[in-house]
Amino acid sequence: MVDISVEIAGLKFRNPILNSACPISRDGPAMERLAENGVGGLVSKTIGVVAAKVPRPHMGVVNKGNIGLIVPQYKGNELVTKVATVRGAYYGFLNAELWTDLPPEQWFEKELPYARKVADKHNIPLIASIGYKAHELRELGPKAVKAGADAIEFSTHYLGHEYTPVVESAKALRGAVDVPIFPKLSPHIWGLKDMVRELEQAGVNGFVAINTVGPALHIDVETGRPVMGGPFGHGWLSGPAIKPLGVAIVAEIAKVTKLPIVGVGGISAPEDVIEYIMAGATAVQVCTQAIVEGPQVFKRLADGVKKWLKDHGYSSVEDIRGKALKYLGYDPAGWYEIKNPVVDESKCIACGLCEQSCDYDAVHVISKGNVRTALVDTSRCYGCGLCTTVCPTRAIYFPGKYWEK
Ligand SMILES: Cc1cc2nc3c(=O)[nH]c(=O)nc-3n(C[C@H](O)[C@H](O)[C@H](O)COP(=O)(O)O)c2cc1C
Repeated sequence: MVDISVEIAGLKFRNPILNSACPISRDGPAMERLAENGVGGLVSKTIGVVAAKVPRPHMGVVNKGNIGLIVPQYKGNELVTKVATVRGAYYGFLNAELWTDLPPEQWFEKELPYARKVADKHNIPLIASIGYKAHELRELGPKAVKAGADAIEFSTHYLGHEYTPVVESAKALRGAVDVPIFPKLSPHIWGLKDMVRELEQAGVNGFVAINTVGPALHIDVETGRPVMGGPFGHGWLSGPAIKPLGVAIVAEIAKVTKLPIVGVGGISAPEDVIEYIMAGATAVQVCTQAIVEGPQVFKRLADGVKKWLKDHGYSSVEDIRGKALKYLGYDPAGWYEIKNPVVDESKCIACGLCEQSCDYDAVHVISKGNVRTALVDTSRCYGCGLCTTVCPTRAIYFPGKYWEK
């Protein structure tokens, strides 16, 4: 039996996949749709002291990325077609949405009470997202709790690069409410580790990271215009492109605190959730993939996480939490030895992706009797590792023995 429920600051989530503050939780009925589609817990769109004035257009995918499509074709024994480059799925997303364009009174009188009933029906926690400055949180926090929030996430997105205002906001909110509070950290704030320590001292109950990256710009080359409306054509980047940044920040936070962390940024597959958890997260939030795929993403990810844990012999999220952290220290022993990947011929599909991307001309797909397989020429291999990451079947890999001391 695999149990994917998680607990954060006394709140019980039916699974570790929450929505993030974003248009998918723009009002009570929108949050109801998320609950019906299996979200682990609800987070409202960020409520400000005034309604936001949202520029149009304010959402768009960034290019669509070029992906290599594997099309192995042979002339006799020779691989003639290896990879066709095609326009693939989106890899990034820009938005210029700011916070909610609904007035705070509407949230406290209508949307949060509606979401409270939804949360009770589905037995999941309701987190209100509010922003930004200390005096604003002091005003909004108690109202959000009165309207039904179990906890508060506070956005730090428009507080600048220095972290002192973030700590001031945390202290103000801590003094105003008794429920758990979580700062949502933006990647442009300097001094992450010191900020985390000071926020812990200020009494926060956990961390949410990350918000969008930017400001960023995307120009439509057919019109020469920015894809986003609003000042400077700027938007904020989210989606798969930011996942490595989110995972890195979650791991950095996990190294300095034992408080729970909710990882956000670029999640589109169950393995992305697993990755955040291995970096130290207890739960995750999803925004962009839920916008482009629809709310059914939550059930897909929860089912996928359950299956991944079962297939790998784990029984809960706790079994893998922080699993990667022991490898993320500063320990130069062995870093500079050349390690040559090996090929598991039973898994190799001779697609040629490893050969195509090997800059050192060290990997080739060859014929061995009537079998075609990749082979590593160790006299040329530089140990860069790229082939092990492009292989679609993990047939080419670094044996674990390289890392055992
Ligand atoms: C259209 C849009 C609106 C967003 N609005 C908010 C918001 O109101 N408050 C907030 O804290 N984050 C907001 N975000 C950031 C997301 O909650 C999330 O942190 C970020 O998009 C990274 O996750 P993702 O890659 O899954 O989208 C917004 C993101 C998008 C794309």
